[in-house]
Amino acid sequence: MKVSVIGCGYLGAVHAAAMAELGHQVVAVDVDPNKIALLASGTAPFFEPGLPEILSSALASQRLRFTTDMSEVAGSSVHFIAVGTPQKAGSNAADMTYVDSAVDALIPFLNDEDFVVGKSTVPVGTSQRLEEKVTAAGSKATVVWNPEFLREGFAVQDTISPDRLVFGINPGSSFDPALSALREVYSTALATDTPLVVTDRATAELVKIAANSFLATKISFINAMSEIAEATGANVTELADAIGYDARIGRRFLNAGVGFGGGCLPKDIRAFSARAEELGLGSSVAFLSEVDEINLRQRQRVVDRVVADCGGDIVDKKVAILGLAFKPLSDDVRDSPALDVARRLHELGADVLAFDPEASGPVARVAPEIPLAQNAQQALLDADIAVLVTEWPEFVQLDPRTAGDLMAHKRIVDARNVLDPAAWRAAGFHYSSLGRP
Ligand code: UDX
Repeated sequence: MKVSVIGCGYLGAVHAAAMAELGHQVVAVDVDPNKIALLASGTAPFFEPGLPEILSSALASQRLRFTTDMSEVAGSSVHFIAVGTPQKAGSNAADMTYVDSAVDALIPFLNDEDFVVGKSTVPVGTSQRLEEKVTAAGSKATVVWNPEFLREGFAVQDTISPDRLVFGINPGSSFDPALSALREVYSTALATDTPLVVTDRATAELVKIAANSFLATKISFINAMSEIAEATGANVTELADAIGYDARIGRRFLNAGVGFGGGCLPKDIRAFSARAEELGLGSSVAFLSEVDEINLRQRQRVVDRVVADCGGDIVDKKVAILGLAFKPLSDDVRDSPALDVARRLHELGADVLAFDPEASGPVARVAPEIPLAQNAQQALLDADIAVLVTEWPEFVQLDPRTAGDLMAHKRIVDARNVLDPAAWRAAGFHYSSLGRP
């Protein structure tokens, strides 16, 4: 099929390359000429495993091209809207500027038989509003919603082999053509029995925000348990293992630690609360503000622990920060708990030196005040304490004896509960984690 992808960020760039990989003819558009130039030369503008490979093979096949010129989408029949919906400044709501301007720019090039397919995470009701915009401009193109569930770090795999597909199509004369078009777009995944939910647009919009709210709630639930565990001498990891064996609960997303961050979970729960307030239903999702608070409390808990483990005075203490990305296999530092912890310690007067295998570039741009090391060893050298805040494999596999030989004082705060306390204590470390004795 001939498809266009509007927006070439974490979602759109991967989606465009994956669509070409699946055999479609793709034109990908973004307003940022630097990003487009990088992508057109086969360079991923951010770290995402597998993306460079599918980018080069798609470019080589000539099924993918990047442009800043929206008129090049003419001729495509399916137009994916994959722009960002970040948190609006000074508000909990989603900033819809990019979605609106993408659709406004697209409208002049739409044919009546085309499909505008929303992928961005949006407040429920957005597709209705966009359809009104399209109709008001005199176009008969159909607006449908097809939320994306990709996880950074696994984005290529999640796009090519999703764990489910959701098509939000409203009833009407365009229902059947829209369903056929989406079935054709995703024919490879559907051929392997990927579960498909065909529903209305409002449900499709809600599915995404509900899924992310549920995941955020699960993480904050276990983090709340870790506070209780810590006060009572219980072990939150063993608690998670034990409740996780119940298939109704499940073990995934029950890892207690410094909490969730990134470009999705934090802003999505806030945007959901804001939308619910607009609908007069704020109390229905009031628990999400508690989920947010528990999550943010974890960051301060880690900072307090570091200060306490240094004897109550952190000024001029050398602190090795291991990890800055919001999670491993990503260079994304948007709302990153790790970066937040680094900043707070720096503001308290600690002599912070941080290392992340991939996020140095983004950190240098958004937090130039945070000194960066070239590698973990350099960060650990002469440190008074180490803080593991992003569970990159190379940190999880750190040898406590080697780390101890480098440091001035053998102290580590494991803010992701991923190290073996016994091994670190045996190497002479003062080891602490969150909610484990
Ligand atoms: C999330 C959703 O998983 C994905 O489906 C959606 O499309 C976008 O938002 P992502 O932001 O890439 O994906 O990250 P995810 O893997 O969900 O992790 C989110 C945060 O939760 C990370 O900061 C991670 O460290 C944290 N987390 C995750 C925990 O603290 N504990 C856990 O048990 C799991």
